[in-house]
Amino acid sequence: MKKNHEELIEKAAIALMKSDFAVGLTGAGISAESGIPTFRGKNGLWSKFKAEELATPQAFKRNPNLVWEWYKWRMEKIFNTKPNLGHYALVELEQLGILKYIITQNVDGLHQIAGSKFIIELHGSIRRGRCIKCRYIVAFDKPPRDIPPRCPECNNLLRPDVVWFGEPIPEDKLKRAIKLFSIADVALIIGTSGVVQPAGYLPYITKEHGGIIIEINIRSSAITSIADIFINEKASYALTKIVSFIKNKTMKKSSK
Ligand code: OAD
Repeated sequence: MKKNHEELIEKAAIALMKSDFAVGLTGAGISAESGIPTFRGKNGLWSKFKAEELATPQAFKRNPNLVWEWYKWRMEKIFNTKPNLGHYALVELEQLGILKYIITQNVDGLHQIAGSKFIIELHGSIRRGRCIKCRYIVAFDKPPRDIPPRCPECNNLLRPDVVWFGEPIPEDKLKRAIKLFSIADVALIIGTSGVVQPAGYLPYITKEHGGIIIEINIRSSAITSIADIFINEKASYALTKIVSFIKNKTMKKSSK
């Protein structure tokens, strides 16, 4: 690791230790090391697939089968992955009492599987289906065998319980996320390009309220220009280092 990175990691760890209310924003980058493809970039999903044909309410209306085929394929991938060291480091930050909430754009459910408790899934979950008529929610423990799956209550079509392009984020979730980012004194932004709104705007709210922005990303993003500390590293690596620094410091303190 470059010396500069070591210093930035220490700086981030100290800011987190000193914080009263730290929140996290995660994107596809945190799950990349679990083997789940990100959306943008050379090998991103949106370089191979057209969002307007697969992830919009119009696409579903036109061809629910095609949309479900794509979601089934993604579900198969996601159901076969496990959280990585980055997810587990965030669990530790929560258990240390430092990280108060994670707001994630991911639909893979890996934060919960890792053991994080305080999560807002802004874009919903691929592990659930929702009836287009009666809004009944079905939890999937594996991808549906027959597509398109149907509502067990009213037999209408189920749709993936995710937010598609052109759809609003459920109001209660968005309000809570905005509130959390406005009271946060540290916002930890991990593995997101920051280009999808309103999620990408959340760190700007913390910044406007005088909070510190820590960003971990292997590339610069739409958030990097407001980052006080930008750690240009993989999420699992940087987060593990941050957590071990904090744990070492707290151990030394308690043994004094
Ligand atoms: P993107 O694919 O836009 O961005 C992923 C980010 O993760 C990029 O900035 C990468 O540089 C970074 N990255 C990749 N691997 C990493 C690693 N190991 N460690 C750290 N960073 C890494 O994904 P999101 O920002 O999550 O929405 O995309 C936001 C939304 O756009 C998604 O929730 C989805 C998508 O369309 C909907 O489907 C509504």
